[in-house]
Amino acid sequence: MEQYVMKGGTPLVGEVEIGGAKNAGLAILAGAVMSDEDVVIENVPDVKDIGVLATAIAAIGAKVEKTDRHTMRINGHDISSFSVDYEYISKIRASYYLLGALLGKYKQAEVAFPGGCDIGSRPIDLHLKGFRMLGAEVEIEHGLIKAKAERLVGAQIYMDKVSVGATINVMLAASMAEGKTTIENAAKEPHVVDVANFLNSMGANIKGAGTDVIRIVGVPKLHGSEYSIIPDQIEAGTFMFAAAATKGDIMIKNVIPKHLEAISSKLIEMGCEVEEFDDAVRVVASKPLKSTQVTTLAYPGFPTDMQPQITTILSMADGTSIVTESIFENRYRYVDELSRMGASIKVEGNTAIIYGAAKYTGAHVSAPDLRAGAALVLAGLSAEGVTVIDDIYYIQRGYEDFDRKLRELGATIETVDSEKALKKFILKAG
Ligand code: EPZ
Repeated sequence: MEQYVMKGGTPLVGEVEIGGAKNAGLAILAGAVMSDEDVVIENVPDVKDIGVLATAIAAIGAKVEKTDRHTMRINGHDISSFSVDYEYISKIRASYYLLGALLGKYKQAEVAFPGGCDIGSRPIDLHLKGFRMLGAEVEIEHGLIKAKAERLVGAQIYMDKVSVGATINVMLAASMAEGKTTIENAAKEPHVVDVANFLNSMGANIKGAGTDVIRIVGVPKLHGSEYSIIPDQIEAGTFMFAAAATKGDIMIKNVIPKHLEAISSKLIEMGCEVEEFDDAVRVVASKPLKSTQVTTLAYPGFPTDMQPQITTILSMADGTSIVTESIFENRYRYVDELSRMGASIKVEGNTAIIYGAAKYTGAHVSAPDLRAGAALVLAGLSAEGVTVIDDIYYIQRGYEDFDRKLRELGATIETVDSEKALKKFILKAG
């Protein structure tokens, strides 16, 4: 099992290139099977979740070709099975996008019940409600979600809760339904807009993505396309916080600064300087960090996927901070690990009270999920001494070459896969 081992205390300085957005990429890969022509997708992040989805798409008969590390050509012409029960598929959340895509195109789909990071209960009732309102019969049997429709017909669908996944899934299915669909109380995240732009590039007719009402007029066919995925907002945000964690100065390149506004404004409140360029942001953390209050919210609010990272950094700030998690109820599982490194945080329900001024010291910890894992890396990079992180496959699910990118900024971090390699690192760095 691979581990990260790092020696903290070096300010991270330099430039880092951000990859394509994992959560947009997953939906776009699924959507690509809806055409019988070649769909070329660029800026695909080379992360484990994307690899699992690509393998599942190939397993149902689609052609999937990786033309270079970040470009995929997908052709759904020869799909021969509508049942996606590939061994690993239930481990990733976004497997559910194949339901919307296959249901839209073939009016039937069976997909293993989705898993994903354990960050609280993650119902999919809104996805299923949406499919049912489009006319599908949906059942859950033997761990599979089965959806089938004689005809898929547009409908007016109100989302009881703002959900990225349900909005995208209904958009996928409705883009090939008959007639008009309206999604009300839709999610407005940048990746919802990216998926809509992608489907439109294939000939779909989707308007209003990025607002809370999305209007879709179904089309009988989607054609081939060439599309480049937007930059990953959360990877960018994580490097912005890496500057804050290490008192560094990082130029984060290939980003859309507008998508980072909630993150930038918290960093500024905390005493960092954030400079925006056309497609880059620079974060300089030269002053002591100040405490603040944060509530995670759907876009354009502060993203839940940045909650563990900001909590980790606020532990080092002067004064007491309060973080409220309003999206997922169980997203503080990393706090015990952070406490082993010296944080003083009290969790009450969905609120974390963070008593600042912690001086992290290296420890042996374990990544409980993707973003929490990244947050532990930030703690390790600011800590005195050596930190070892287990279960880094969670981090690898969503960050491409995280250790290499950090090393290029001056961090002392390695991926090791044996006791011997770990000891060698400690001897050299310690
Ligand atoms: C997506 O999850 C992301 N995953 C998550 O990123 C991200 O944390 C989340 O959106 C919020 O931004 C992918 O895109 C693959 P939701 P998703 O549906 O779509 C409730 C990461 O680290 N809800 O927007 O599953 C739900 O319980 C991951 O990259 C229902 O009640 O999230 C939550 O409280 C972790 N019924 C809220 O809505 C439903 O049918 C928002 O969830 C669906 C959701």
